[in-house]
Amino acid sequence: MTVGKTVRQAAAAAFVLSTPYWLPKALVGLRVRVFAAVNGPEGVIVPNETVGPEQFAELYAHPAADGRSKGAGLSDLFWYWLSPGPEVHQEHLEPGPRYDAVARTTVSILAGSSAQLSKAAADCAARVLDELVPGDVELVRLRDLMMPVWAEFFHGLVFHEPCPPGVRELITGNAEDVVNSLKNTRLRHMGRRARLTRYLLRRLAAGDLPHELPAELSGPRDRAHYLQGAFFNTAVVQMSEAMAHLLLVLAQHPDVQRRLAAHPEDDHDLGNVINETLRMYPLFGIAHRITSADIDLGGDVRYPAGTVLCFDYPAYHATGYEDPDVFDPGRWDRISAKDAHHIPFGVAANRPCPAWRLSPVVMRAATREVLARFTLHSSVSHTRPIPHRAPCLLVRRGHRLPAHRRAAVLAFLRVRDRWEDLGRSLLQLGLGTWMVADARRLRMAETYFAHHDTQGNPLPGQQAAGAAGPATIPRTAGPSGCPYPH
Ligand code: HEM
Repeated sequence: MTVGKTVRQAAAAAFVLSTPYWLPKALVGLRVRVFAAVNGPEGVIVPNETVGPEQFAELYAHPAADGRSKGAGLSDLFWYWLSPGPEVHQEHLEPGPRYDAVARTTVSILAGSSAQLSKAAADCAARVLDELVPGDVELVRLRDLMMPVWAEFFHGLVFHEPCPPGVRELITGNAEDVVNSLKNTRLRHMGRRARLTRYLLRRLAAGDLPHELPAELSGPRDRAHYLQGAFFNTAVVQMSEAMAHLLLVLAQHPDVQRRLAAHPEDDHDLGNVINETLRMYPLFGIAHRITSADIDLGGDVRYPAGTVLCFDYPAYHATGYEDPDVFDPGRWDRISAKDAHHIPFGVAANRPCPAWRLSPVVMRAATREVLARFTLHSSVSHTRPIPHRAPCLLVRRGHRLPAHRRAAVLAFLRVRDRWEDLGRSLLQLGLGTWMVADARRLRMAETYFAHHDTQGNPLPGQQAAGAAGPATIPRTAGPSGCPYPH
């Protein structure tokens, strides 16, 4: 064997072995470029060179930055991912009486004293943890572990009754399908989501809902879709993702974990950790608005009506802090969240998250249940999109796992994470491209607004939305309503 050949073989081996360290990043960049090419220009991303972090919040809170769906190409994509019933999902409703009524209803369903909400969340977490992690040492994906907790919790809030196991499966099946398609790790499976809609329709028809729903939601299907969208999709997905971030942070900061476990009553410390986690890993990458009138904030900051403004949360959260890349929960003792560039739940003046009060309360309760049972350990990467669903080793408190075994598991997790990342990036590129193209083909938002006004009323000469939903939104193919193989 010649020296040249050996060198070539070594270079080829180094190339292959190093791919997990650079190829996933390159593939993410390629995916963003493919999306932009298929979907057209994305609008104005802020903060940018003209809108600094100081004007970011002013622009976000501007009364004319109030359009949600009509007139943005992005809407077709979000409607596609958040189907069925995207036209009545609170996040997508245009401002007006229908939005106001729906927003009021969501807040009233989420209401409760901190003590009641904490107890309900702790009970659900305890039940699910005891059922799903019976052993002393278990490898889990934290997002998967948390989904059933929040499925049970929100079923309790919506129906005021415990969640039967079969219904929990329907809810987690729906929520997983939504979040996996949003992250491009799976295609949509509309049949899975439709099974939950049928359950909700049955419960509504039986008069089982202990809440009054807005008259502005015209038929039973709109009502079922509203509940499905807000509580069994957004709520379950967001809480599971938020908990996956929080618990992964604890798994990777053993000193913080030890402190919180030793003082479970210390809400202040845990509150700081939650603030810092949501600062570094905000659940929204970008939230968009379509301007309904011209905006002029002085200087060069002028946007005509119809501009799509994209508010970049991670970029905003990284400005105005000392060492923004360092995880430092203690910083929240030195600064106030009110004065900092910190909007994990959006801005108060412009459609903030209705669960801004509930979420930290119930996150604290669920975290205490986890820490009371287990120590957490993980060596995987931690990024905002968290597509790996947060692999983690749970060791029951009191159980002695020899240090060399724990080190071996962590080494395994680290290597598997790299290679999974590589495979997943390729998958995301393929599935993402397909879904962006499919959403563009269906043009759900554009089609809807060609036939309805912003309050959901059919435009003159159009057929009214019936019990089967707006006739103008293309229905999916196949006997199960699912266009993709299960
Ligand atoms: C830690 C958990 C959560 C975080 C960090 C979070 C974050 C956010 C953010 C940043 C927004 C505003 C986006 C924008 O300006 O367009 C938002 C909106 C929203 N969130 Fe949450 N969320 C969480 C949990 C929940 C839960 C539990 C629910 C339960 C129903 C929920 C329902 C909604 C809805 C319906 C909207 C749309 C509000 C509107 O347009 O009126 N979120 N969320």
